[in-house]
Amino acid sequence: MFQRELLKGRAIFLTGGGTGLGRSMALRFSELGARLFLVGRREDPLRETCQEILRLGGAAAYVTCDVRDYAAVEAAAERAEQQFGEINVLVNNAAGNFIAPTEKLSANAFNAVVGIVLNGSFHCTQAFAKRWISRKLGGNVLNIVTTYAAANCGSGFVVPSACAKAGVLALTTSLAVEWAKYHIRINAIAPGPFPTEGAWSRLMPSKQFEEHSREKHPMKRFGRPEELANLAAFLLSDMAEYINGECVVIDGGQWLRGAGEFNELTLMPESAWEAMEAARQKKS
Ligand code: HXC
Ligand code: NAP
Repeated sequence: MFQRELLKGRAIFLTGGGTGLGRSMALRFSELGARLFLVGRREDPLRETCQEILRLGGAAAYVTCDVRDYAAVEAAAERAEQQFGEINVLVNNAAGNFIAPTEKLSANAFNAVVGIVLNGSFHCTQAFAKRWISRKLGGNVLNIVTTYAAANCGSGFVVPSACAKAGVLALTTSLAVEWAKYHIRINAIAPGPFPTEGAWSRLMPSKQFEEHSREKHPMKRFGRPEELANLAAFLLSDMAEYINGECVVIDGGQWLRGAGEFNELTLMPESAWEAMEAARQKKS
């Protein structure tokens, strides 16, 4: 369906690009002709993803960077420009999340997630938009949120993430209007459940809950990474030039069946939460 060179000429700064959905998008964008600059905190997955892109004949580079730290984001943006000249696309994909009863959260736990998701997305967006505006270049931003980011939805048991993702959605719609005059386009994707190591290890409390989620899903299946990567490629392409400030849901209709993906955890007994917390304490 896509032309092979759909994203030719694009240099894409992709956060959290070493793992999961970020890695899938990086590989797909590269296949469609884009050059990729990946950031994340751990070097190994970033290196591995870049090596895979290079092996397949694409162009990719990376630098470790914690998006919570604005100075580190600025330094990464500089490095990306040294590598590829102008960066013309930003994908805010990095995230942090876990399930927990909200009354038990420490302030630091809340800040950790909001810092990555909301502050991190703002830091990266600001770093590149400043460049695009001062140099009179257009730009393109894609934010990966979630279905429970919608302001009238939210979800229990992932409250820091719900608050932060709702903020990212507000950033998307606000800046779509404010920065349209600078030819900066900004959109979001709200994925439903896509099994990745990062998400599943932190959000699936048990095999039974996973089975319950699949059974309750209208299509009785979870998402495939390539489905999300193709939607992202479309939104970044010139075919979507007139789409601005939009959030496209890709969840197989899951949230229409019952909004707030983790609200089902109200069914989980207190003893299961206690066992999970004990296991976490033992690990750390
Ligand atoms: C309660 C927790 C916790 C948990 C961490 N904390 N895990 N509290 N329950 N399960 C608390 C810690 O005790 C600490 O507070 C504070 O959070 C910070 O934790 P650290 O481990 O020191 O922070 P850090 O190393 O920065 O790790 C950030 C993280 C971690 C968010 C906690 O999970 C992470 O690195 N995540 C990155 C990847 C990720 O989350 N991927 C999934 C995205 S999926 P104290 O007070 O003790 O210092 C996604 C999908 C949504 O978003 C929809 C799915 C369908
Ligand atoms: P993932 O593999 O855990 O991806 C998260 C990425 O963010 C990791 O590569 C991680 O790398 C990076 N990251 C975390 N904290 C960071 C920080 N402080 N600075 C820089 N990078 C950081 O999980 P995923 O499932 O692919 O999630 C990708 C995106 O999809 C996220 O925005 C998530 O909220 C969204 N999403 C996923 C699902 C799903 O079902 N999988 C559903 C809805 C939305 P490091 O740990 O090395 O930093």
